[in-house]
Amino acid sequence: MNIIIGICGGIAAYKVPMLIRQLKKNGHQVQCVATRHALQFVTPLTLETLSQRSLYCDLFENSNEVSTEHIALKDWGDMIVVAPATANIIGKMAHGIADDALSTLLLAMSAKPRYVCPAMNSDMLHANATQRNIEQLRKDNVTIIESTTGELACGTTGDGRMAEPEDIYKHLIPCHIENLSGKKFLITAGPTYERIDSVRFIGNYSSGKMGYAVAEALAQKGANVILISGPTHLTTSHPNIHCQRIENAQEMYDAATAVFPSCNGAVLTAAVADYRPLHTADHKLKKRDDEGMTLQLVQNPDILAALGQSKGPNQLLAGFALETNDEIENARKKLVRKNLDFIVLNSLNDAGAGFGVDTNKVTFLFPDGKTIENPLKSKSAVAQDIANIIERMLSEQS
Ligand code: CTP
Repeated sequence: MNIIIGICGGIAAYKVPMLIRQLKKNGHQVQCVATRHALQFVTPLTLETLSQRSLYCDLFENSNEVSTEHIALKDWGDMIVVAPATANIIGKMAHGIADDALSTLLLAMSAKPRYVCPAMNSDMLHANATQRNIEQLRKDNVTIIESTTGELACGTTGDGRMAEPEDIYKHLIPCHIENLSGKKFLITAGPTYERIDSVRFIGNYSSGKMGYAVAEALAQKGANVILISGPTHLTTSHPNIHCQRIENAQEMYDAATAVFPSCNGAVLTAAVADYRPLHTADHKLKKRDDEGMTLQLVQNPDILAALGQSKGPNQLLAGFALETNDEIENARKKLVRKNLDFIVLNSLNDAGAGFGVDTNKVTFLFPDGKTIENPLKSKSAVAQDIANIIERMLSEQS
């Protein structure tokens, strides 16, 4: 998931690096947004090194590049958590005040899950104004991750200590309950390259983002994942994901058919080339002045259909359908022909869906005729939906 951490000026900001590390270790992307005061307690270098993304804060307010950054970030983030949340930011959120980078982003993300981790002196926390503002946030569907009692920075003991990073983590990622632990899944991702000669190939624009996101979503639920990836610049560091890189459709077929029998399920997201050149040259083909060039193509094996044929009664199989016309009808035909448990349709007619982008608009189709349409979401949120469907189907089986 793409998680934005809003950091305010409180001593508990020193604990934020621990939260970032835990989120990153579990395969999430983290973007830090800090107030000016936060940077008195934690350095930009620490935040940027751990999150591996540039920090967004008011220090860059004169740059045109970031003047609309809050809009780009609002779409990128699946959720935002404010840790530590001062009385000031809680007051601003409760009243819709947007006068700096963080408060502007929080307002822009009103429709997304928002979490607030209050951290302040007990008297400030229990002040009527703060309590009224917290109550207002609850009414506005903001989740309050309660502070705890203990020693406070001001030297007193009382209520107002920010929740510990691991407790914040459990609130943010309820799927941390590893319901798929002990299960194994196969994912295919990315394009395939079909070699013409030593320097040329037939390929496609697939980035692999959707497949990698599905692998991460399943791994976050505790599953072991074999990710068979075509050529892409993406990487994954999740300890539950074993990535096998291949180049062409035949190699993907060989790897997938070898692994599938030992899996509980598979989601094939790869944009596999349907055809490959009949002949490949191991040198660079020379241009000939006298005539055009004809490439003779032969069909590649359909990996999804092959797995559908060999599928056992307790194995789940899902595929994608990328369609440009008669979308539902074509996807339903693929669902039946390839013997799938569900298919994820994305239409190239929908803005924001398809190759290269970070978002997708999908419809899930099931063999019993059920169809679930979804709004435009980030690819990681779509991946989360897919992992939830798989989790539900497996629990219904047992
Ligand atoms: N697929 C596969 N092996 C192939 C072709 C496709 O595993 N040789 C999988 C894809 O990973 C995807 C699904 O089949 O999950 C559908 O792919 P798509 O390209 O939409 O459909 P095709 O079956 O190739 O049919 P067409 O190109 O005619 O639409």
